[in-house]
Amino acid sequence: VQNVGILAMELYFPSQYVDQVDLEKFDEVGTGKYTIGLGQSKMGFCSDREDINSICMTALHRLIEKNNINLHDIGRLEVGTETIIDKSKSVKTFLMTLFAKEGATDIEGIDSTNACYGGTAALFNSINWVESSSWDGRKAIVVAGDIAVYGKGPARPTGGAGAVAMLIGPDAPLVFDCGVRASYMTHAYDFYKPDLASEFPYVDGKLSIKCYLSALDNCYNLFCKKMRKDNPDFKGLLSLDGMLFHSPYCKLVQKSLGRVCFNDFLNASSADREKQFPGLSQFNNHKREETYFDRDVEKAFMIYSEKLFNEKTKPSLHVAKNVGNMYTPSLYGGLVSYLVSKSPDQLIGKKFALFSYGSGLASTMYSISICKDMSAGSKLERLINSLNNTIAMLDKRQCVEPQVFSDLMDVRTKNYHTAPYEPSGSIDVLFPGTYYLVRIDEQRRRTYERK
Ligand code: ACO
Repeated sequence: VQNVGILAMELYFPSQYVDQVDLEKFDEVGTGKYTIGLGQSKMGFCSDREDINSICMTALHRLIEKNNINLHDIGRLEVGTETIIDKSKSVKTFLMTLFAKEGATDIEGIDSTNACYGGTAALFNSINWVESSSWDGRKAIVVAGDIAVYGKGPARPTGGAGAVAMLIGPDAPLVFDCGVRASYMTHAYDFYKPDLASEFPYVDGKLSIKCYLSALDNCYNLFCKKMRKDNPDFKGLLSLDGMLFHSPYCKLVQKSLGRVCFNDFLNASSADREKQFPGLSQFNNHKREETYFDRDVEKAFMIYSEKLFNEKTKPSLHVAKNVGNMYTPSLYGGLVSYLVSKSPDQLIGKKFALFSYGSGLASTMYSISICKDMSAGSKLERLINSLNNTIAMLDKRQCVEPQVFSDLMDVRTKNYHTAPYEPSGSIDVLFPGTYYLVRIDEQRRRTYERK
């Protein structure tokens, strides 16, 4: 099989959001802290009407409908999520209700979990399956979804929610490059969820930033090394048309692109440094490990990389800025944003890198090439048209006051383990086609309807 990758894609984000300007006032923090300091504009959230099963099902069902997918043509279904409700029971098994109805039950794959990385793990499993001897000619679907909520405090404005569904198979318009995935995995307590009685994580904000940036250093350098095996002229960022990142908040992504340039600077010969990085020689002896919170390095390389950021990364941040950190779908919301920012002509033949990070920690940098052949071209056009319709829904959302948002969060928190339970969140506010929770019974079994 050739050109294995993403054939079709669908993104779901909640129909309600809170404005970060309003939230700054409500939280009584300095004006500009969330909007300029974190680079965020709006934060999507779910009431108690939605949970991880429902949002994943909403994305999956939309993908199937919009692309007329025959359920018997799917041989693998995988989920990436860190939003846990039934512990031993996967979200995938709930999604099977859609398939089992049609008698389609011969479907491999199950959930993958490690913070924001699970979606990427699920995606790699599906790509690998299509490329393997186990493949039976059918396609795979990957669903990544999360409801990202934090307790009151500085992390709360970095929440979000959403789900992405992706159809995987051969002859795709978005092809995964072979042999260049570069991973960095190690142990860290930067963000984890040890309190099973709560929906909120334990998070060491500063440590999580350091872990994210050091994972980026490691993945980027290894990725470049692997790329150079095939192409000795590969120049990292300069040889790529785009670089996309997992986005906890947009400011961290902008800092990350500066960090990539700092790595290029450190890796350059002294002659190249003079040419490519004029005026930055005061950083000649700086070390990667000692500069994660070095303001001078950060500022100098953010200024240096501004044009590269605007060209190669900023177009990928539209969803992140307007929905927030969706956790596992975050990077794929970046992919959607990047694709809709261009026309198919502008995308043909382009190559871009993606950096996936999940606290704890697991991370990979990999690359996607946009297929040049004509049949893939028409699939690409269909994909972009469909995603344009989805993105237009960002403007159809309802803005709610921070007090209403805070009250809805309190309802979620208070009832996180209540059973039996009937949710009180509005059904009217949901987009048509959204799945919602009707009831949790005494045995904590959940029932859903579709609007
Ligand atoms: N106007 C403009 N900018 C401001 C203002 C203001 N009035 N006030 C503060 N800022 C800036 C700060 O200078 C800082 O930016 P800088 O670092 O570029 O200087 C930024 O706003 C954030 O403010 P801080 O005081 O540094 O941070 P805070 O303690 O509020 O927490 C944090 C921020 C750590 C990101 C927190 O929101 C958090 O813990 N989030 C969850 C963890 C996270 O997302 N980690 C990232 C990787 S792991 C993952 O994906 C979950």
